[in-house]
Amino acid sequence: SRTVARDAAGTATVGGLDVKHLAEEFGTPAYFLDEDDFRARCRAWSEAFGPDADVFYAGKAFLSRAVVRWLTEEGLNLDVCSGGELSTALAAGMPAERIALHGNNKSVEEITRAVEAGVGRIVVDSFQEIVRVAHIAQKAGKRQRVQIRVTVGVEAHTHEFIATAHEDQKFGLPLAGGQAAEAVRRVLKLDGLELVGVHSHIGSQIFDTSGFEVAARRVVGLLAEVRDEHGVELPEIDLGGGLGIAYTSEDDPREPHEIATALRAIVERECAAAGLAVPRLSVEPGRAIVGPTAFTLYEVGTVKELPGLRTYVSVDGGMSDNIRTALYDADYSVALVSRTSTAEPMLSRVVGKHCESGDIVVRDAFLPADLAPGDLLAVPATGAYCRSMASNYNHALRPPVVAVKDGTARVIVRRETEEDLLRLDVG
Ligand code: LLP
Repeated sequence: SRTVARDAAGTATVGGLDVKHLAEEFGTPAYFLDEDDFRARCRAWSEAFGPDADVFYAGKAFLSRAVVRWLTEEGLNLDVCSGGELSTALAAGMPAERIALHGNNKSVEEITRAVEAGVGRIVVDSFQEIVRVAHIAQKAGKRQRVQIRVTVGVEAHTHEFIATAHEDQKFGLPLAGGQAAEAVRRVLKLDGLELVGVHSHIGSQIFDTSGFEVAARRVVGLLAEVRDEHGVELPEIDLGGGLGIAYTSEDDPREPHEIATALRAIVERECAAAGLAVPRLSVEPGRAIVGPTAFTLYEVGTVKELPGLRTYVSVDGGMSDNIRTALYDADYSVALVSRTSTAEPMLSRVVGKHCESGDIVVRDAFLPADLAPGDLLAVPATGAYCRSMASNYNHALRPPVVAVKDGTARVIVRRETEEDLLRLDVG
């Protein structure tokens, strides 16, 4: 991982800081996020797509006020999918016109806040929602820019729970069978709405560009149909997020410039074939920006060797700070970072402290046989969908997020306390 390095003496460092000192100062478990790496990834995406495209960071991967400020400064836009994400974005000063609102069941209240704040786009996801947004916009005396979320019918090669382009699922309106075209008809008839484009998100943690290319081709196909039927050329297409990252050394992710080149080529080719002007392209990477920028630091509590099976290494967190292994069978790597060891590697499973056997952080790992209570373990690539999906299961206190930059570490989301838990419990 880029975030954890070792100095000449073998001590693990992050942003020039000794991991042991970080654990002393901030406690464990904790997420440490490299701000420069985050900003560099933002720039890599903007530069790859260039001035004729927009990059929307998907806030669901991880959002905090500091993150919103970094995004704002780096010129990115922001995709939010709830009132909570919208408030965080606005509270931290992201201009509303750079925000897009998503979701398959946005509440009237969420839509109203977004419209009143003046968000740049709302991605509509159902026939009912089209009417709802139009009504709210009209009441507010506004014309809301919208994109229509469509399902293009490709099978993304990823876990079933995070694949979103096949038709039998809750998101979007299928191109096949004409619901997407019908949505276009309905939106075009409503005064409160300005139809700016079509949106497709095919899934997440995807390594090859072919699914995106099929999606791009089919979305451009819809644009051509819309032009033929209505005589309007929609000016935007959004191809969503989903680019995979390396969780282990087996993963071979595409770089932003590879996906940008592939998408631009296919959109330009299809538009030329259909006689359409090339629409403004946008994408919504979440994981690929924040995922690799953080790691989780845990302290080992117990080491239990089961002869002939494996060794169970229990750490002071678990499924409450990283649900991804239990939920998606995700793979992570892990390293001993508080010291070096020359002991033999032993087959280990890093588990949490929660009350179920599926509470696994790293399913299979080789850790040194002299691993002992008090050792610190780092699990890299936990920047995306770990803190944002953290829970209070077993009344666990959600860990802090510490941003590291220029040799200084600063808490950007503080550790939860028992008072925080009790505050919600009103008796
Ligand atoms: N745009 C839309 C409309 C989305 O639904 C998503 C993710 C993204 C963009 C960002 O996708 P990314 O670039 O991060 O892959 N909790 C799961 C991932 C769920 C993704 C949901 N939507 C996980 O931990 O793997």
